[in-house]
Amino acid sequence: MKRVDDFRLRLGKKELVPIVIGGMGVDISTAELALEAARLGGIGHISDAMVNTVADRRFNAKFVKDKLRKFKFNVANTDKSVVKFDLDQLAQATKMHVGKTIEAKRGDGLIFVNCMEKLTMNAPRETLRVRMQAALDAGIDGITLAAGLHLGSFALIEDHPRFRDAKLGIIVSSLRALQLFLRKTARTNRLPDYVVVEGPLAGGHLGFGMDWAEFDLSVIVAEVQRFLQAENLNIPLIPAGGVFTGSDAVSYLEKGAAAVQVATRFTVARECGLPEDVQQMYFKASEDQIVVNQISPTGYPMRMLSNSPAIGDGIRPNCEAYGYLLDANGCCSYITAYNREVEANPGVKRISVKDKTCLCTQMRNFDLWTCGHNTYRLKDTTRKLDDGSYQLLSAEHIFRDYQFSTDNKLALPE
Ligand SMILES: Cc1cc2nc3c(=O)[nH]c(=O)nc-3n(C[C@H](O)[C@H](O)[C@H](O)COP(=O)(O)O)c2cc1C
Repeated sequence: MKRVDDFRLRLGKKELVPIVIGGMGVDISTAELALEAARLGGIGHISDAMVNTVADRRFNAKFVKDKLRKFKFNVANTDKSVVKFDLDQLAQATKMHVGKTIEAKRGDGLIFVNCMEKLTMNAPRETLRVRMQAALDAGIDGITLAAGLHLGSFALIEDHPRFRDAKLGIIVSSLRALQLFLRKTARTNRLPDYVVVEGPLAGGHLGFGMDWAEFDLSVIVAEVQRFLQAENLNIPLIPAGGVFTGSDAVSYLEKGAAAVQVATRFTVARECGLPEDVQQMYFKASEDQIVVNQISPTGYPMRMLSNSPAIGDGIRPNCEAYGYLLDANGCCSYITAYNREVEANPGVKRISVKDKTCLCTQMRNFDLWTCGHNTYRLKDTTRKLDDGSYQLLSAEHIFRDYQFSTDNKLALPE
């Protein structure tokens, strides 16, 4: 019987353990978590979502404060179009976050950054270019393009000296999205180094509509695989979403996948960025508490725990401090929903906004508990302690369980 360790992921000259820990913003996939994956010979992701906040936390910097000070005059204004990111500061924050992580890397694995196109930041092209260029400048091993079609993203960095040597990959949820990406980036004469195919059971935002339940990861993977073979494209294929055991992973690897990308099991690792009380919520979750809804202003469905404090919360938008979801015109659908409720409830101090959430603030405060479909199974991966709580795991334990387990077994911690 095969186990994950019988396979290797080949990326250029590198041979890796075929386990990728996916990016989890905002700093849920911390540098510590990504570094463990790299130390153990796999691939770990950090995320550049709300990188100013992350850099402030990690390095005691003042990026958020500086931005808020600059735009404080606009806090009560419903029009947020003047609230722009300072591109030099954005580059600096990215370089700190990426550079310090790469500096700390040990072992044979790699560290990638998850870069979401949907963080439009009131200047989509300019901010995305700065984020990717700064990550390359700071020595990132690779960039995973996420949450968006990224039709222009390769072109934004094609002049960077590392454009051809850094590993560049994309997450897609359909063959059509991949075909579109390949067609639109053909001009740069560069193929992606890997393609993550993310199915409907993943955490975070989903690349499907609310009909997500009608899709099946293995069917999409097979479709993409047939296409790559027919086109003679030798691009490593990495399924993601719902791979919970080593055996789940092996079933994809045996069918020709190059690696698997996983995340949910690592949300209860000590190295994960979620506060411990939130991790206990993940452990305790039942299947019916795991919901997919449309409260994210990105327009994508998002999976989360139904008891997330963010749901229904009506805080004032914090775009002067954050503003990562402002579109090219300085709009965000949460602002619209919030203003509608304020108008409909004059004099009410604490309004509730049910249809949208202030994603930046809620993610920053760890009050939106996004998670994968299999979160309700996390309790089976550990021991229940006498006080009723569950024992956190080390990232190494989880990684090695994926790497060496057979028979759908889950190794419990010591
Ligand atoms: C808590 C959490 C946060 C996530 N955040 C992101 C993100 O910021 N960007 C992204 O591309 N994917 C995100 N994902 C998706 C993962 O990177 C990964 O592809 C997927 O969850 C793998 O499926 P699994 O969770 O069933 O193992 C997130 C997943 C989880 C569980």
